[in-house]
Amino acid sequence: MRRFSGQVALVTGAGSGIGRAAALLFAAEEASVGLIDIDPAGIRVTLELINSQGGRAAFLPGDVTSQADISRAIEKITGEYGRIDVLFNNAGIELSRPLHQTTEREWDRVLAVNLKGMFLVAKAVLPTMMAQNRGAIVNTSSISGVLGWPAYAAYSTSKGGVIQLTRQMAVDYGPYNIRVNCICPGTTLTPLIERLFELEEDPASAKNIIAARHPLGRFAQPEEIAQAVLFLASEEASFITGAILPVDGGYTAK
Ligand SMILES: NC(=O)c1ccc[n+]([C@@H]2O[C@H](COP(=O)([O-])OP(=O)(O)OC[C@H]3O[C@@H](n4cnc5c(N)ncnc54)[C@H](O)[C@@H]3O)[C@@H](O)[C@H]2O)c1
Repeated sequence: MRRFSGQVALVTGAGSGIGRAAALLFAAEEASVGLIDIDPAGIRVTLELINSQGGRAAFLPGDVTSQADISRAIEKITGEYGRIDVLFNNAGIELSRPLHQTTEREWDRVLAVNLKGMFLVAKAVLPTMMAQNRGAIVNTSSISGVLGWPAYAAYSTSKGGVIQLTRQMAVDYGPYNIRVNCICPGTTLTPLIERLFELEEDPASAKNIIAARHPLGRFAQPEEIAQAVLFLASEEASFITGAILPVDGGYTAK
């Protein structure tokens, strides 16, 4: 018996980075995993990786900002597996832009994916968890949800919202035995962050500067963030809800 044997875990943004790493770990711990992502090619790779390690997963392409896509995905996963024990609400996009250069359209898209998307997916999953009287939700915020970060107006605002959404959900759904927690990753080596560094004149030196700002002196690997997610979703965290957990190499301790 592994930590998530017999359980069903739904992961959004499972086609890349932190979401893929978490999906692989949930599957290795014997959960059946629902893989949601707007990028079908990305989740197909995650699905193949899970299949190749002998795990079970369902392919659920969709956009977290679309209620219709999410309803279809949740119907498919409850139809296939009959329950949902864990939601890792993780899909997100970044935008490196100071407020005065952010267009209304950019602002709306970042807030829609990073905050409204978490609301829509949680809303679709909660009735199943409430009927089970059991569930664990982990939302992905960021260190920039608790600190200002240069030129991150829409992104930081969305991630600050995720923290408050987490606290609110913990209060409202604790009585249904549903725990809701949040992780705040530091800089993590995923395609999202690699794309950001590519915008710099000298990506290598920009990387060194940012890495040095983390007291551990380096970036996280996606698996290190995913391990914290599995802990919060597991029985080992059975009395933890409403927690905002930095997984940031000490960045916010400074
Ligand atoms: N990488 C970091 O340094 C870092 C730090 C703090 C927080 N985060 C957060 O971690 C989460 C995962 O980021 P990552 O670094 O793994 O990024 P990533 O770009 O590698 O993966 C994000 C995934 O989300 C998917 N996605 C984007 N928009 C979507 C939508 N509308 N519907 C469904 N799926 C969608 C993408 O297709 C992609 O597969 C994000 O919420 C991000 O904000 C990342």
